[in-house]
Amino acid sequence: MISQRFSRWNLVLITILLVGVAFLIDPSGRSSSIFRFFGRLHPAMIHFPIVFVIVAFMGSVVNRFTKSERWDSLVHISLFLACWAGLKAVFAGSWLSQTGGYPSDLITLHKWFGIGIVWSSAFLLVVTTAGSGIFQTRMVRLVSWAAVLGGLVVGGDLGGQLTHGRGFVTQYAPAGLRLVLEHPDPMKTRFDLSTPDVTTVYDGIVSPILMEKCSSCHGADRGKGSLRLHTVEAITTHEGDEPLLTAGKPEESLLIKRIELPEGHEDQMPPMYNAKPISHADVELLKWWVSSGASFDQTIASVEMPTTIYTILQAYGLGGIRTGVFALDVAPPDTALIASWRQKGVSVDVLAEGESLLSVRCTVVQDCIWGPEADGLAANVTWIDLRNSDLTDESMAGLGRFPLLTRVNVAGTAISGSGLAAISGHEYLDYLNLYGSMVDDNALQHIELMKKLTSLYLWQTKVSEEGIARLRSALPQTEIDTGDAK
Ligand code: HEC
Repeated sequence: MISQRFSRWNLVLITILLVGVAFLIDPSGRSSSIFRFFGRLHPAMIHFPIVFVIVAFMGSVVNRFTKSERWDSLVHISLFLACWAGLKAVFAGSWLSQTGGYPSDLITLHKWFGIGIVWSSAFLLVVTTAGSGIFQTRMVRLVSWAAVLGGLVVGGDLGGQLTHGRGFVTQYAPAGLRLVLEHPDPMKTRFDLSTPDVTTVYDGIVSPILMEKCSSCHGADRGKGSLRLHTVEAITTHEGDEPLLTAGKPEESLLIKRIELPEGHEDQMPPMYNAKPISHADVELLKWWVSSGASFDQTIASVEMPTTIYTILQAYGLGGIRTGVFALDVAPPDTALIASWRQKGVSVDVLAEGESLLSVRCTVVQDCIWGPEADGLAANVTWIDLRNSDLTDESMAGLGRFPLLTRVNVAGTAISGSGLAAISGHEYLDYLNLYGSMVDDNALQHIELMKKLTSLYLWQTKVSEEGIARLRSALPQTEIDTGDAK
């Protein structure tokens, strides 16, 4: 039979040892191989305290129903074993966490739950062995049991997520329970990627990495190597023997060089024995930032993004990046005008990518370029298809009123080229189809101005060979289709 005196001393000892674990085993430190060995036993060890707690709980339930104290010894001994088995599991878990590879926020939470469960089991032992006094009250008993059992459920769930991934337990849980157990996914909150056309690469990606991985030594409080990385100002005003950042040249930037040193190199950043290691993906992201100019105001959407970077950022929750007209905040179109346009035989569709942007097709241009509907909807139309219509160079002037055009198809029309002046200054124009129209070399002066053009169709037009050569050099990024097999 465990006495109350014994259980109190037990509580004191357990408390001291738990404080020791919490403060002496630094999760970001490195464990030696013998501790790693114990660490790996953690997932097995964890079952012992769970079983002991369940046995103790069942014993006390039976006690209650039989209104006897026959099972008291079982309850006390099980609780005593639960706290010591739990303590071992906490030690093993702390060593395991030092081997790294687990999300740090989950680990910390899981560890505190483990510590909490062990401590409350020791406390519960004091409560159940108390003969009288405050510990004997029903309330104290209930709260203590709730702490131990509730802690086991939530702490165990966190452990499950660490080994099997987030949402492992909650995936099939009833909705109510899921609300209690679900946590925001840190993969989706680490970087700010929700508005890539507004957020800068520095604010959204670079700064979070530097704050997480470097600022403990190079931050507001400490400036190791007289370097601080916590603000734009601190970064840009750093003076060292070597340039910290050389725009466009990661290989000449000390910041990149030091994080790219091989594991174990004495100058490696973050230093091997001290800090959270930096992941390969983070290094790639920082290099990408420096390669693209180490700018503090370029937005995520405006920087060219290689596939590797896009893949990394997608994992962090980057959705499709809206560029060009899709990044604009266009007011929704007037539905009454759309209806009236349709009645005149103009076909109007909403572009799936942008709810406010329209694609329009018609064969009688008077209706779709000049009418009152065009006046009201010109700022929403981004694709216009006038294939085989009655378009002329004169009526084409109306397209000047559609500032967001990205695709213009005037194939098979009678235009000769001067009408193109109306769209040559359009900022977003990237597709122009002149196939089978009457355009000739006079059109070139207008086409040359369309710097954003990526596709140009000139098949069966009167544009000369020399004219096409001239266009190719003026618009090197444009794919020019002349119908010839290249
Ligand atoms: C645990 C502390 C610690 C962390 C974390 C840390 N550093 Fe350092 N860093 C130092 C110390 C100490 C020095 C000075 C000694 C030296 O140069 O090695 C230093 C020096 C540097 C220097 C050289 C500065 C100069 O002008 O000579 C760079 C660059 C650097 N760190 C980058 C980083 C980056 C980037 C990170 C984050 C990925 C980082 N450090 C994280 C401790 C740290």
